[in-house]
Amino acid sequence: MADKLIIFDTTLRDGEQSPGASMTKDEKLRIARQLERLKVDVIEAGFAASSNGDFEAVQAIANAIKDSTICSLSRANDRDISRAAEALKGANSARIHTFIATSALHMEKKLRMTPEQVLEQAKQSVRFARNLVADIEFSPEDGYRSDPDFLCRVLEAVIAEGATTINVPDTVGYAIPELYGNFIKTLRERIPNSDKAIWSVHCHNDLGMAVANSLAGVKIGGARQVECTINGLGERAGNCSLEEVVMAIKTRRDYFDLDLGIDAKHIVAASRMVSQTTGFVVQPNKAVVGANAFAHASGIHQDGVLKARDTYEIMRAEDVGWSANKIVLGKLSGRNAFKQRLQELGVQLDSETEINLAFARFKELADRKSEIFDEDILALVSDESVTSENEQYGFVSLAQHSETGERPQATIVFTVDGREVQGKSDGNGPVDASLKAIESHVKSGAEMVLYSVNAISGSTESQGEVTVRLQNSGRVVNGVGADPDIVVASAKAYLSALNKLQSKADRVAAQG
Ligand code: KIV
Ligand code: ZN
Repeated sequence: MADKLIIFDTTLRDGEQSPGASMTKDEKLRIARQLERLKVDVIEAGFAASSNGDFEAVQAIANAIKDSTICSLSRANDRDISRAAEALKGANSARIHTFIATSALHMEKKLRMTPEQVLEQAKQSVRFARNLVADIEFSPEDGYRSDPDFLCRVLEAVIAEGATTINVPDTVGYAIPELYGNFIKTLRERIPNSDKAIWSVHCHNDLGMAVANSLAGVKIGGARQVECTINGLGERAGNCSLEEVVMAIKTRRDYFDLDLGIDAKHIVAASRMVSQTTGFVVQPNKAVVGANAFAHASGIHQDGVLKARDTYEIMRAEDVGWSANKIVLGKLSGRNAFKQRLQELGVQLDSETEINLAFARFKELADRKSEIFDEDILALVSDESVTSENEQYGFVSLAQHSETGERPQATIVFTVDGREVQGKSDGNGPVDASLKAIESHVKSGAEMVLYSVNAISGSTESQGEVTVRLQNSGRVVNGVGADPDIVVASAKAYLSALNKLQSKADRVAAQG
Protein backbone atom coordinates (compact mmCIF):
# COMPACT_ATOMS: atom_id res chain seq x y z
CA MET A 1 0.00 0.00 0.00
CA ALA A 2 1.26 3.52 -0.85
CA ASP A 3 2.19 5.89 1.98
CA LYS A 4 -0.04 8.88 2.66
CA LEU A 5 1.34 12.37 2.12
CA ILE A 6 -0.04 14.80 4.71
CA ILE A 7 -1.02 18.22 3.34
CA PHE A 8 -0.47 20.95 5.92
CA ASP A 9 -1.92 24.26 4.76
CA THR A 10 -0.47 27.44 6.24
CA THR A 11 -2.33 30.04 4.14
CA LEU A 12 -3.87 31.48 7.30
CA ARG A 13 -0.55 31.75 9.12
CA ASP A 14 2.53 31.95 6.87
CA GLY A 15 0.37 33.15 3.94
CA GLU A 16 -1.10 35.89 6.06
CA GLN A 17 2.41 37.14 6.82
CA SER A 18 2.69 38.53 3.26
CA PRO A 19 2.59 42.31 3.56
CA GLY A 20 -1.01 43.34 3.03
CA ALA A 21 -2.51 39.83 3.18
CA SER A 22 -3.94 40.20 6.67
CA MET A 23 -7.41 38.73 7.01
CA THR A 24 -10.25 39.26 9.44
CA LYS A 25 -11.55 36.47 11.66
CA ASP A 26 -14.60 35.97 9.43
CA GLU A 27 -12.46 35.82 6.31
CA LYS A 28 -10.18 33.26 7.91
CA LEU A 29 -13.12 31.16 8.98
CA ARG A 30 -14.52 31.20 5.45
CA ILE A 31 -11.17 30.10 4.02
CA ALA A 32 -10.79 27.43 6.72
CA ARG A 33 -14.15 25.99 5.70
CA GLN A 34 -12.99 25.84 2.10
CA LEU A 35 -9.77 24.11 3.20
CA GLU A 36 -11.85 21.57 5.10
CA ARG A 37 -13.90 20.95 1.93
CA LEU A 38 -10.62 20.47 0.09
CA LYS A 39 -9.86 17.82 2.76
CA VAL A 40 -6.62 19.43 3.85
CA ASP A 41 -5.18 17.24 6.64
CA VAL A 42 -3.83 20.04 8.85
CA ILE A 43 -4.86 23.72 8.84
CA GLU A 44 -2.40 26.10 10.50
CA ALA A 45 -5.01 28.60 11.59
CA GLY A 46 -2.69 31.31 12.91
CA PHE A 47 -0.26 32.28 15.62
CA ALA A 48 -2.49 32.51 18.68
CA ALA A 49 -0.08 34.45 20.92
CA SER A 50 0.65 37.14 18.32
CA SER A 51 -2.52 39.19 18.97
CA ASN A 52 -6.01 38.94 20.41
CA GLY A 53 -7.33 38.92 16.85
CA ASP A 54 -5.18 35.91 15.94
CA PHE A 55 -6.16 34.14 19.15
CA GLU A 56 -9.85 34.61 18.37
CA ALA A 57 -9.41 33.46 14.77
CA VAL A 58 -7.61 30.26 15.83
CA GLN A 59 -10.27 29.66 18.47
CA ALA A 60 -13.16 30.22 16.04
CA ILE A 61 -11.58 27.86 13.48
CA ALA A 62 -10.85 25.23 16.15
CA ASN A 63 -14.50 25.36 17.23
CA ALA A 64 -15.96 25.26 13.71
CA ILE A 65 -13.80 22.83 11.74
CA LYS A 66 -14.29 19.17 12.50
CA ASP A 67 -12.54 17.17 9.77
CA SER A 68 -9.05 18.71 9.66
CA THR A 69 -6.49 18.94 12.44
CA ILE A 70 -6.23 22.57 13.60
CA CYS A 71 -2.80 23.90 14.42
CA SER A 72 -1.45 27.06 16.02
CA LEU A 73 2.10 28.31 15.62
CA SER A 74 3.90 29.25 18.80
CA ARG A 75 7.38 30.48 19.67
CA ALA A 76 9.32 28.15 21.94
CA ASN A 77 8.21 29.64 25.24
CA ASP A 78 5.61 28.65 27.85
CA ARG A 79 3.43 31.72 27.37
CA ASP A 80 3.03 31.28 23.61
CA ILE A 81 2.46 27.55 23.98
CA SER A 82 -0.21 28.03 26.67
CA ARG A 83 -2.00 30.60 24.48
CA ALA A 84 -1.95 28.18 21.55
CA ALA A 85 -3.33 25.34 23.69
CA GLU A 86 -6.04 27.62 25.06
CA ALA A 87 -7.12 28.73 21.57
CA LEU A 88 -7.19 25.12 20.35
CA LYS A 89 -9.35 23.78 23.21
CA GLY A 90 -12.46 23.33 21.05
CA ALA A 91 -10.71 21.39 18.26
CA ASN A 92 -11.55 17.75 17.49
CA SER A 93 -7.90 17.28 16.67
CA ALA A 94 -5.35 19.90 17.80
CA ARG A 95 -1.68 20.46 17.05
CA ILE A 96 0.83 22.89 18.54
CA HIS A 97 3.63 23.92 16.18
CA THR A 98 6.53 25.35 18.11
CA PHE A 99 9.72 26.73 16.61
CA ILE A 100 13.08 28.26 17.43
CA ALA A 101 15.89 29.26 15.09
CA THR A 102 18.92 26.94 14.88
CA SER A 103 21.20 28.52 12.28
CA ALA A 104 24.38 30.18 13.62
CA LEU A 105 23.28 33.44 12.01
CA HIS A 106 19.83 33.52 13.61
CA MET A 107 21.02 32.27 17.02
CA GLU A 108 23.80 34.82 17.26
CA LYS A 109 22.29 37.89 15.57
CA LYS A 110 18.56 37.52 16.15
CA LEU A 111 18.09 35.46 19.31
CA ARG A 112 21.44 36.36 20.92
CA MET A 113 21.55 32.89 22.42
CA THR A 114 24.22 30.21 22.47
CA PRO A 115 23.56 26.89 20.73
CA GLU A 116 23.33 25.18 24.16
CA GLN A 117 20.66 27.65 25.28
CA VAL A 118 18.68 27.07 22.08
CA LEU A 119 18.91 23.30 22.55
CA GLU A 120 17.64 23.60 26.14
CA GLN A 121 14.80 25.92 25.16
CA ALA A 122 13.71 23.64 22.33
CA LYS A 123 13.61 20.61 24.65
CA GLN A 124 11.84 22.47 27.42
CA SER A 125 9.14 23.87 25.13
CA VAL A 126 8.35 20.51 23.51
CA ARG A 127 8.17 18.97 27.00
CA PHE A 128 5.82 21.75 28.13
CA ALA A 129 3.64 21.50 25.00
CA ARG A 130 3.45 17.72 25.25
CA ASN A 131 1.62 18.08 28.58
CA LEU A 132 -1.07 20.15 26.91
CA VAL A 133 -1.59 18.47 23.51
CA ALA A 134 -0.50 15.08 22.13
CA ASP A 135 0.24 16.24 18.58
CA ILE A 136 3.40 18.41 18.60
CA GLU A 137 5.28 19.74 15.61
CA PHE A 138 8.74 21.21 16.03
CA SER A 139 10.49 23.46 13.47
CA PRO A 140 14.13 24.55 13.64
CA GLU A 141 13.73 27.93 11.95
CA ASP A 142 16.30 28.51 9.19
CA GLY A 143 16.88 24.75 9.53
CA TYR A 144 18.32 24.34 6.04
CA ARG A 145 21.12 26.82 6.78
CA SER A 146 21.88 25.26 10.18
CA ASP A 147 24.95 23.25 11.06
CA PRO A 148 23.90 19.60 10.41
CA ASP A 149 25.66 18.26 13.54
CA PHE A 150 23.91 20.76 15.79
CA LEU A 151 20.59 20.24 14.00
CA CYS A 152 20.85 16.47 14.56
CA ARG A 153 21.36 17.05 18.30
CA VAL A 154 18.35 19.37 18.53
CA LEU A 155 16.03 17.17 16.49
CA GLU A 156 17.00 13.97 18.30
CA ALA A 157 16.37 15.73 21.61
CA VAL A 158 12.95 17.13 20.70
CA ILE A 159 11.81 13.76 19.33
CA ALA A 160 12.89 12.22 22.65
CA GLU A 161 10.76 14.89 24.42
CA GLY A 162 7.72 13.84 22.37
CA ALA A 163 7.64 15.89 19.14
CA THR A 164 5.53 13.89 16.69
CA THR A 165 6.31 15.89 13.51
CA ILE A 166 9.69 17.36 12.59
CA ASN A 167 9.50 20.13 10.02
CA VAL A 168 12.68 21.33 8.29
CA PRO A 169 12.13 24.87 7.00
CA ASP A 170 14.03 26.45 4.18
CA THR A 171 13.06 29.76 5.74
CA VAL A 172 14.80 32.00 3.22
CA GLY A 173 14.25 29.93 0.05
CA TYR A 174 17.96 29.15 -0.38
CA ALA A 175 17.72 25.44 -1.15
CA ILE A 176 18.23 23.56 -4.42
CA PRO A 177 16.01 20.48 -4.96
CA GLU A 178 18.64 17.75 -4.93
CA LEU A 179 20.55 19.30 -2.02
CA TYR A 180 17.41 19.83 0.07
CA GLY A 181 16.18 16.29 -0.60
CA ASN A 182 19.54 14.88 0.47
CA PHE A 183 19.62 17.16 3.53
CA ILE A 184 16.37 15.62 4.81
CA LYS A 185 17.57 12.12 3.91
CA THR A 186 20.82 12.60 5.84
CA LEU A 187 19.03 13.96 8.90
CA ARG A 188 16.68 10.97 8.92
CA GLU A 189 19.58 8.55 8.52
CA ARG A 190 21.76 10.14 11.20
CA ILE A 191 19.17 10.71 13.92
CA PRO A 192 18.69 7.44 15.83
CA ASN A 193 15.04 8.07 16.80
CA SER A 194 14.03 9.69 13.48
CA ASP A 195 11.47 6.94 12.82
CA LYS A 196 9.44 8.14 15.83
CA ALA A 197 8.37 11.31 13.99
CA ILE A 198 6.78 12.25 10.68
CA TRP A 199 9.15 14.39 8.60
CA SER A 200 7.87 17.53 6.99
CA VAL A 201 9.08 20.08 4.43
CA HIS A 202 8.46 23.83 4.50
CA CYS A 203 9.99 25.73 1.58
CA HIS A 204 9.92 29.41 0.69
CA ASN A 205 10.00 30.51 -2.91
CA ASP A 206 12.72 33.16 -3.07
CA LEU A 207 14.48 31.39 -5.96
CA GLY A 208 11.24 30.06 -7.46
CA MET A 209 11.99 26.50 -6.30
CA ALA A 210 9.64 26.03 -3.34
CA VAL A 211 7.53 23.36 -5.05
CA ALA A 212 10.53 21.60 -6.59
CA ASN A 213 12.36 21.62 -3.24
CA SER A 214 9.30 20.28 -1.41
CA LEU A 215 8.88 17.48 -3.93
CA ALA A 216 12.58 16.58 -3.60
CA GLY A 217 12.16 16.54 0.18
CA VAL A 218 9.38 14.01 -0.32
CA LYS A 219 11.00 11.87 -3.02
CA ILE A 220 14.66 11.89 -1.98
CA GLY A 221 14.29 12.77 1.69
CA GLY A 222 11.28 10.63 2.54
CA ALA A 223 9.25 13.48 4.05
CA ARG A 224 5.58 12.59 4.47
CA GLN A 225 4.17 16.05 5.17
CA VAL A 226 4.30 19.10 2.89
CA GLU A 227 3.61 22.60 4.22
CA CYS A 228 2.06 24.83 1.58
CA THR A 229 -0.35 27.67 0.89
CA ILE A 230 -3.14 28.36 -1.59
CA ASN A 231 -1.75 30.32 -4.58
CA GLY A 232 1.71 30.04 -2.97
CA LEU A 233 0.84 33.01 -0.75
CA GLY A 234 3.51 33.83 1.83
CA GLU A 235 6.28 36.11 2.99
CA ARG A 236 8.36 37.72 0.23
CA ALA A 237 8.13 35.43 -2.83
CA GLY A 238 5.74 33.13 -0.98
CA ASN A 239 5.57 29.48 0.01
CA CYS A 240 5.22 26.18 -1.77
CA SER A 241 1.90 26.34 -3.63
CA LEU A 242 -0.70 23.79 -2.50
CA GLU A 243 -2.34 23.41 -5.89
CA GLU A 244 0.97 22.77 -7.65
CA VAL A 245 2.34 20.28 -5.16
CA VAL A 246 -0.97 18.42 -4.94
CA MET A 247 -1.41 18.17 -8.71
CA ALA A 248 2.21 17.11 -9.19
CA ILE A 249 1.74 14.24 -6.74
CA LYS A 250 -1.60 13.26 -8.31
CA THR A 251 -0.58 13.64 -11.95
CA ARG A 252 2.77 11.86 -11.47
CA ARG A 253 1.53 9.12 -9.17
CA ASP A 254 3.59 6.77 -11.33
CA TYR A 255 6.71 8.48 -9.95
CA PHE A 256 5.77 9.51 -6.40
CA ASP A 257 3.51 6.54 -5.50
CA LEU A 258 1.82 8.43 -2.67
CA ASP A 259 -1.79 8.78 -1.58
CA LEU A 260 -3.39 12.13 -0.83
CA GLY A 261 -6.60 12.89 1.05
CA ILE A 262 -7.20 16.07 -1.01
CA ASP A 263 -10.42 16.54 -2.99
CA ALA A 264 -8.88 18.51 -5.87
CA LYS A 265 -12.15 19.70 -7.40
CA HIS A 266 -12.32 22.41 -4.72
CA ILE A 267 -8.92 23.86 -5.66
CA VAL A 268 -10.07 26.62 -8.04
CA ALA A 269 -12.73 27.87 -5.63
CA ALA A 270 -10.11 27.95 -2.85
CA SER A 271 -7.73 29.87 -5.09
CA ARG A 272 -10.36 32.44 -6.01
CA MET A 273 -11.46 32.84 -2.43
CA VAL A 274 -7.92 33.50 -1.21
CA SER A 275 -7.21 35.86 -4.08
CA GLN A 276 -10.43 37.82 -3.60
CA THR A 277 -9.99 37.98 0.16
CA THR A 278 -6.39 39.16 0.15
CA GLY A 279 -6.40 41.15 -3.09
CA PHE A 280 -3.40 39.13 -4.34
CA VAL A 281 -4.30 38.60 -7.96
CA VAL A 282 -3.37 35.21 -9.49
CA GLN A 283 -1.15 35.63 -12.56
CA PRO A 284 -2.86 34.31 -15.73
CA ASN A 285 -0.07 31.83 -16.48
CA LYS A 286 0.04 30.42 -12.93
CA ALA A 287 0.07 26.60 -12.99
CA VAL A 288 -3.28 24.91 -12.21
CA VAL A 289 -5.23 28.00 -11.09
CA GLY A 290 -4.18 30.74 -13.54
CA ALA A 291 -6.84 31.85 -16.04
CA ASN A 292 -4.70 30.50 -18.90
CA ALA A 293 -3.70 27.24 -17.23
CA PHE A 294 -6.05 25.25 -19.48
CA ALA A 295 -6.43 27.71 -22.38
CA HIS A 296 -5.07 26.73 -25.76
CA ALA A 297 -4.43 29.72 -27.98
CA SER A 298 -2.41 28.33 -30.86
CA GLY A 299 -4.28 26.70 -33.72
CA ILE A 300 -2.07 23.61 -33.60
CA HIS A 301 -2.77 23.07 -29.91
CA GLN A 302 -6.51 23.68 -30.27
CA ASP A 303 -6.68 21.22 -33.13
CA GLY A 304 -4.73 18.64 -31.15
CA VAL A 305 -6.89 18.98 -28.02
CA LEU A 306 -10.07 18.65 -30.08
CA LYS A 307 -8.78 15.43 -31.64
CA ALA A 308 -7.40 13.92 -28.44
CA ARG A 309 -7.35 15.84 -25.22
CA ASP A 310 -4.14 14.33 -23.89
CA THR A 311 -2.11 15.66 -26.83
CA TYR A 312 -1.58 18.88 -24.88
CA GLU A 313 -3.33 18.36 -21.51
CA ILE A 314 -1.85 16.41 -18.62
CA MET A 315 -4.68 17.24 -16.20
CA ARG A 316 -8.39 17.78 -16.72
CA ALA A 317 -9.60 21.30 -15.95
CA GLU A 318 -12.76 19.99 -14.30
CA ASP A 319 -10.72 17.80 -11.92
CA VAL A 320 -9.38 20.93 -10.21
CA GLY A 321 -12.72 22.72 -10.26
CA TRP A 322 -12.69 24.75 -13.46
CA SER A 323 -16.13 25.06 -14.94
CA ALA A 324 -17.10 26.94 -18.10
CA ASN A 325 -17.50 30.66 -17.48
CA LYS A 326 -21.24 30.29 -17.62
CA ILE A 327 -24.05 32.64 -16.73
CA VAL A 328 -25.42 31.15 -13.58
CA LEU A 329 -28.09 33.46 -12.32
CA GLY A 330 -30.04 36.55 -13.35
CA LYS A 331 -32.57 39.11 -12.27
CA LEU A 332 -35.39 36.58 -11.95
CA SER A 333 -33.49 34.02 -9.91
CA GLY A 334 -34.98 33.45 -6.49
CA ARG A 335 -33.48 33.07 -3.04
CA ASN A 336 -33.46 29.26 -3.25
CA ALA A 337 -31.57 29.22 -6.56
CA PHE A 338 -29.10 31.71 -5.09
CA LYS A 339 -28.67 29.64 -1.93
CA GLN A 340 -28.16 26.47 -3.95
CA ARG A 341 -25.52 28.12 -6.14
CA LEU A 342 -23.70 29.26 -3.00
CA GLN A 343 -23.68 25.66 -1.81
CA GLU A 344 -22.40 24.39 -5.17
CA LEU A 345 -19.61 26.96 -5.01
CA GLY A 346 -18.71 25.69 -1.55
CA VAL A 347 -19.67 28.95 0.17
CA GLN A 348 -21.21 28.57 3.57
CA LEU A 349 -22.83 31.63 5.09
CA ASP A 350 -23.33 31.24 8.81
CA SER A 351 -26.80 32.60 9.41
CA GLU A 352 -30.06 33.33 7.65
CA THR A 353 -29.24 37.02 8.20
CA GLU A 354 -26.05 36.64 6.18
CA ILE A 355 -27.87 34.79 3.40
CA ASN A 356 -30.56 37.48 3.32
CA LEU A 357 -27.95 40.24 3.16
CA ALA A 358 -26.06 38.46 0.39
CA PHE A 359 -29.29 37.83 -1.52
CA ALA A 360 -30.27 41.50 -1.25
CA ARG A 361 -26.82 42.43 -2.64
CA PHE A 362 -27.28 39.89 -5.41
CA LYS A 363 -30.64 41.40 -6.39
CA GLU A 364 -29.12 44.89 -6.40
CA LEU A 365 -26.33 43.63 -8.65
CA ALA A 366 -28.73 41.75 -10.95
CA ASP A 367 -30.66 44.99 -11.48
CA ARG A 368 -27.52 46.60 -12.85
CA LYS A 369 -25.84 43.65 -14.54
CA SER A 370 -27.86 41.25 -16.67
CA GLU A 371 -25.49 38.28 -16.45
CA ILE A 372 -24.23 37.09 -13.11
CA PHE A 373 -21.25 34.73 -13.16
CA ASP A 374 -19.80 32.55 -10.41
CA GLU A 375 -17.01 35.10 -10.00
CA ASP A 376 -19.61 37.80 -9.26
CA ILE A 377 -21.19 35.67 -6.57
CA LEU A 378 -17.83 34.90 -4.99
CA ALA A 379 -16.91 38.60 -5.01
CA LEU A 380 -20.23 39.46 -3.45
CA VAL A 381 -19.80 37.06 -0.53
CA SER A 382 -16.18 38.15 -0.03
CA ASP A 383 -17.48 41.61 0.77
CA GLU A 384 -17.19 41.97 4.55
CA SER A 385 -20.20 44.23 4.76
CA VAL A 386 -22.24 41.14 3.78
CA THR A 387 -20.59 38.70 6.14
CA SER A 388 -19.81 40.85 9.10
CA GLU A 389 -22.14 43.16 10.91
CA ASN A 390 -19.47 44.64 13.16
CA GLU A 391 -17.29 46.59 10.75
CA GLN A 392 -16.48 50.17 11.70
CA TYR A 393 -16.93 51.62 8.20
CA GLY A 394 -19.60 50.66 5.65
CA PHE A 395 -20.36 52.00 2.18
CA VAL A 396 -23.78 53.64 1.59
CA SER A 397 -23.74 55.73 -1.61
CA LEU A 398 -21.56 57.82 -3.87
CA ALA A 399 -22.14 60.67 -6.30
CA GLN A 400 -19.35 61.97 -8.47
CA HIS A 401 -19.06 64.31 -11.38
CA SER A 402 -16.28 64.37 -13.94
CA GLU A 403 -16.06 66.17 -17.26
CA THR A 404 -13.17 66.77 -19.63
CA GLY A 405 -11.30 69.88 -18.59
CA GLU A 406 -12.91 70.08 -15.13
CA ARG A 407 -11.64 68.85 -11.80
CA PRO A 408 -13.73 65.81 -10.69
CA GLN A 409 -15.89 66.16 -7.56
CA ALA A 410 -17.21 63.39 -5.28
CA THR A 411 -19.66 63.19 -2.40
CA ILE A 412 -19.75 59.97 -0.44
CA VAL A 413 -22.08 58.73 2.29
CA PHE A 414 -20.76 55.96 4.51
CA THR A 415 -21.34 54.65 8.03
CA VAL A 416 -19.01 54.99 10.97
CA ASP A 417 -20.06 52.53 13.70
CA GLY A 418 -23.54 52.45 12.19
CA ARG A 419 -23.97 56.27 11.96
CA GLU A 420 -24.19 57.85 8.50
CA VAL A 421 -21.66 60.55 7.63
CA GLN A 422 -20.89 62.46 4.47
CA GLY A 423 -17.56 63.46 2.92
CA LYS A 424 -16.85 65.73 -0.09
CA SER A 425 -13.74 66.37 -2.09
CA ASP A 426 -12.30 67.08 -5.48
CA GLY A 427 -9.36 65.11 -6.89
CA ASN A 428 -7.20 64.34 -9.90
CA GLY A 429 -9.75 61.82 -11.14
CA PRO A 430 -13.10 60.45 -9.88
CA VAL A 431 -11.41 57.68 -7.85
CA ASP A 432 -8.97 60.12 -6.26
CA ALA A 433 -11.84 62.51 -5.43
CA SER A 434 -13.90 59.71 -3.86
CA LEU A 435 -11.11 58.39 -1.67
CA LYS A 436 -10.18 61.93 -0.61
CA ALA A 437 -13.86 62.44 0.26
CA ILE A 438 -13.62 59.46 2.65
CA GLU A 439 -10.35 60.78 4.11
CA SER A 440 -11.85 64.26 4.59
CA HIS A 441 -13.92 62.66 7.31
CA VAL A 442 -11.81 59.73 8.57
CA LYS A 443 -8.37 61.41 8.60
CA SER A 444 -6.61 58.04 8.94
CA GLY A 445 -3.29 59.41 7.72
CA ALA A 446 -2.70 56.06 5.97
CA GLU A 447 -0.44 55.97 2.94
CA MET A 448 -1.68 54.17 -0.18
CA VAL A 449 1.00 51.80 -1.43
CA LEU A 450 -0.98 49.96 -4.08
CA TYR A 451 -4.13 50.51 -6.13
CA SER A 452 -5.22 48.01 -8.77
CA VAL A 453 -8.36 47.27 -10.79
CA ASN A 454 -9.22 43.91 -12.27
CA ALA A 455 -12.27 42.91 -14.37
CA ILE A 456 -13.84 39.98 -12.51
CA SER A 457 -15.23 38.18 -15.53
CA GLY A 458 -13.23 39.62 -18.37
CA SER A 459 -15.32 42.19 -20.27
CA THR A 460 -16.30 45.85 -19.74
CA GLU A 461 -19.72 44.61 -18.58
CA SER A 462 -17.97 42.83 -15.77
CA GLN A 463 -17.69 44.03 -12.19
CA GLY A 464 -14.48 45.82 -11.40
CA GLU A 465 -12.58 44.37 -8.49
CA VAL A 466 -10.36 46.93 -6.81
CA THR A 467 -7.53 46.24 -4.39
CA VAL A 468 -6.22 49.03 -2.19
CA ARG A 469 -3.15 48.54 0.00
CA LEU A 470 -2.73 50.96 2.89
CA GLN A 471 0.16 51.43 5.24
CA ASN A 472 -0.03 53.08 8.62
CA SER A 473 2.35 52.98 11.60
CA GLY A 474 4.22 50.00 10.14
CA ARG A 475 1.05 47.99 9.41
CA VAL A 476 0.14 47.07 5.85
CA VAL A 477 -3.36 45.89 4.89
CA ASN A 478 -5.25 45.15 1.68
CA GLY A 479 -8.88 46.05 1.12
CA VAL A 480 -10.90 44.60 -1.75
CA GLY A 481 -14.16 45.96 -3.21
CA ALA A 482 -16.24 44.91 -6.20
CA ASP A 483 -18.93 46.76 -8.15
CA PRO A 484 -19.88 47.33 -11.80
CA ASP A 485 -18.89 50.98 -11.14
CA ILE A 486 -15.13 51.01 -10.48
CA VAL A 487 -15.33 54.28 -8.56
CA VAL A 488 -17.77 52.65 -6.12
CA ALA A 489 -15.58 49.50 -6.05
CA SER A 490 -12.63 51.75 -5.14
CA ALA A 491 -14.52 53.40 -2.29
CA LYS A 492 -15.60 49.99 -0.97
CA ALA A 493 -12.02 48.70 -1.17
CA TYR A 494 -10.75 51.77 0.68
CA LEU A 495 -13.32 51.38 3.48
CA SER A 496 -12.51 47.67 3.74
CA ALA A 497 -8.79 48.49 4.11
CA LEU A 498 -9.59 51.06 6.82
CA ASN A 499 -11.59 48.38 8.68
CA LYS A 500 -8.60 46.05 8.55
CA LEU A 501 -6.21 48.71 9.77
CA GLN A 502 -8.44 49.01 12.83
CA SER A 503 -8.59 45.29 13.52
CA LYS A 504 -4.83 44.68 13.26
CA ALA A 505 -3.72 47.32 15.68
CA ASP A 506 -2.13 45.11 18.33
CA ARG A 507 -0.34 42.42 16.36
CA VAL A 508 3.08 40.86 17.16
CA ALA A 509 5.00 39.85 14.03
CA ALA A 510 5.56 36.12 13.49
CA GLN A 511 9.10 35.21 12.57
CA GLY A 512 8.81 32.44 9.99
O1 KIV B 1 9.69 29.70 7.29
C1 KIV B 1 9.78 29.30 8.46
O2 KIV B 1 10.84 29.02 9.00
C2 KIV B 1 8.53 29.21 9.22
C3 KIV B 1 8.61 28.50 10.53
C4 KIV B 1 7.95 29.26 11.60
C5 KIV B 1 8.05 27.12 10.38
O3 KIV B 1 7.50 29.63 8.77
ZN1 ZN C 1 7.67 29.97 6.58
